[in-house]
Amino acid sequence: MIFRQLFDHESYTYTYLLADEATREAIIIDPVLSQVENNLRLINELTLKLIAAVDTHVHADHITALDALRNSTDCQTWLGNPGEVQCVDHALEDQAVMHIGKLQLKVIYTPGHTDDSYCFYLQQNNAPMLFTGDTLLIRGTGRTDFQNGDAGQLFDSLHQKILTLPKQTRVFPGHDYKGWHESTLAEEIAHNPRLAITARDDFIKHMSTLDLPNPKMMDIAVPANRTCGKQPG
Ligand code: FE2
Repeated sequence: MIFRQLFDHESYTYTYLLADEATREAIIIDPVLSQVENNLRLINELTLKLIAAVDTHVHADHITALDALRNSTDCQTWLGNPGEVQCVDHALEDQAVMHIGKLQLKVIYTPGHTDDSYCFYLQQNNAPMLFTGDTLLIRGTGRTDFQNGDAGQLFDSLHQKILTLPKQTRVFPGHDYKGWHESTLAEEIAHNPRLAITARDDFIKHMSTLDLPNPKMMDIAVPANRTCGKQPG
């Protein structure tokens, strides 16, 4: 497998490029519009064929490159909540499996951070990989106070879905603000303070007291991302 973790230093977003070494087919997860030239350069230099671009959810802190990549590569685009976001080619479906050459990426619906949040689980024998978007961050979780976020749903997604996966699963978040690139479920169970709150009511109470400022780009990014990042004109 070919695997690259890419970073947008303005929004602290991680973008992931995964490809099947034999067929050269590739998928990109959470691409950022301002990084699209870099993404295309890498895809070309590695002689990959981008067949799919997906967002884990409608982001509030950066503009997606789904539309730009579709225009440049003819890839298919995927996102949750097709009712609200009609620009994508396909809606994500819980438990569906995306095939990228021989790679199998399982789609897991994990509402809570937003009501359209999904994780992607790469099924591999020894070291499965989980792309968590903002559902599970390293030593944290996404917030739940906008875009139909719901702390109770996030608790259920974490405890009933994510934490039932093998403990050796490598965790790749949608962001990291400390420069930490990856973790494992075992490590997060041991050290993530949000996972240490094991009562649902306590978790809801904790999330309601965070009082975080809105993301800087929220008013621009959310409407733009509902059109897959299409640029006007
Ligand atoms: Fe988010």
